[in-house]
Amino acid sequence: MVNEKLKIAIGSDHAGFRLKESVRKHLAEKGCDVEDCGVHSDEPADYPDSAQKVAVRVAARQAGWGVLICGTGLGMAIAANKVPGIRAATCNNTLLARFAREHNNANVLALGGRMVDAAEARKIVDTWLAAEFAGGRHERRVEKITALEERSVY
Ligand code: RB5
Repeated sequence: MVNEKLKIAIGSDHAGFRLKESVRKHLAEKGCDVEDCGVHSDEPADYPDSAQKVAVRVAARQAGWGVLICGTGLGMAIAANKVPGIRAATCNNTLLARFAREHNNANVLALGGRMVDAAEARKIVDTWLAAEFAGGRHERRVEKITALEERSVY
């Protein structure tokens, strides 16, 4: 069930630009409040820049979710996960999207524009939005991830 007031920050690099445009329109059609953090063309761009913009909005609770799209979805997730409070997961299929929400309480979905087509990306996004964090034993595990962020020296 999609909350109509759900705010989603979305971003991409050049390799994810076309898919980002498609996913952005899909989310808007579903009634989501979508903030486009760029990029706005397929000119070469560095994925950590958009990852930072989206991740900071989610971490600051200016957006409920983030969606990041690069060529594979890997670089975006690696970069976004450097921002405290972010649990970004690369989900290039619907099963991963479901488990990223149910088990990991992921708050940023990373997709690969070179890995999935627009139709598959729509299914992944819909699965992500419909899934809920299962809590219970998964809550304890996610809390341990948060505790890792709080350690500054190893
Ligand atoms: C850009 O060529 C590509 O490296 C980038 O989009 C992404 O896939 C990195 O993880």
